[in-house]
Amino acid sequence: MSRTVTVHASGTYEVRIGRGLLADAGKEIRAVCGGSAACVVTDDRVGPLYADGVERSLAAAGYRVERFTIPNGEASKTPENVLALVRFLAQKGLTRSDAVVALGGGVVGDLAGFAAATYRRGLGFVQLPTSLLAAVDSSVGGKTAVDLPEGKNLWGAFYQPKLVLCDCDTLATLDPAVLRDGCAEVVKYGVIRDAALFELLRDPAAAASEEVIERCVSIKRDLVELDERDEGPRKLLNLGHTVGHAVELLSGYTVTHGSAVAIGMAVVAKAAAKRGLLDAAEAEKIVTLLRTYGLPTETSYPAESLARAMAGDKKRSGSSIDLIVPRRIGDCAIVPTAVTELEALVRDGL
Ligand code: GLY
Repeated sequence: MSRTVTVHASGTYEVRIGRGLLADAGKEIRAVCGGSAACVVTDDRVGPLYADGVERSLAAAGYRVERFTIPNGEASKTPENVLALVRFLAQKGLTRSDAVVALGGGVVGDLAGFAAATYRRGLGFVQLPTSLLAAVDSSVGGKTAVDLPEGKNLWGAFYQPKLVLCDCDTLATLDPAVLRDGCAEVVKYGVIRDAALFELLRDPAAAASEEVIERCVSIKRDLVELDERDEGPRKLLNLGHTVGHAVELLSGYTVTHGSAVAIGMAVVAKAAAKRGLLDAAEAEKIVTLLRTYGLPTETSYPAESLARAMAGDKKRSGSSIDLIVPRRIGDCAIVPTAVTELEALVRDGL
């Protein structure tokens, strides 16, 4: 039995969460995409575990199947790999009625989605997330992008998938560090929108459960439906991300996304408490929960360097940047903050 969250955005699609879903992926993909060929995009860690099974299922559903594999990790989210992928799709003769199937974590989903959005001006796209972070965040909502040397996710498009199948069996093979990264995003949902979820997460075994994934996806669905293009309430999903992206950048991406977001959430919570916007005990609860998951909550980068890196964030508009600030657990505000104020704010949270 799977759980289903339906997203009504520029396209309507289902996010199905359950066990054993990859075995029937071909049939499900055929029902929403049709076509005669499917290209599975995966990486060299996930592919050996799951791609053969997915491809068998696609072939059984009548697809001619191709596979494109990238090295595991953020370093693969490049314009060069998008170009290699779209040329591969062209060489294999995929048409607009065919499908691109992303099998992997956020890097694979973002890259495959961007290729699917632009190859022949768009073809069917399905997400098969295999990491917790991809399951609760990046596979849903249609953000696709690759990184540029100048910054993360700077070249991309909004392009909704036609289906998301989150097979929770795949979470069992996750490297503990990758699972931890996803837990940071799960905690984020509790802080921005769901105090009861936050309480549930005090039991670390709950974070990767079907119930928690469904709750996170439902929160994301609500925000995406209100604001698909990230101009208003969807920005709440960026809690911890502006500081987090600065930490990632300063570390040369050796600090992973989830760890950086955990640091970002802790810094913002502590700064909010210091400025009387959030009860100090609530800030402490956020920091403690992140630590329960083995996530970092501090950084040795100075406020000045962090603020400079934050000022280059793609979310900046003119001389201000929207920061997401907790008012209490389960309720955050979008606070436009002058770039000149960032250093003092970050210093308050270090
Ligand atoms: N990952 C944040 C968003 O999808 O808006």
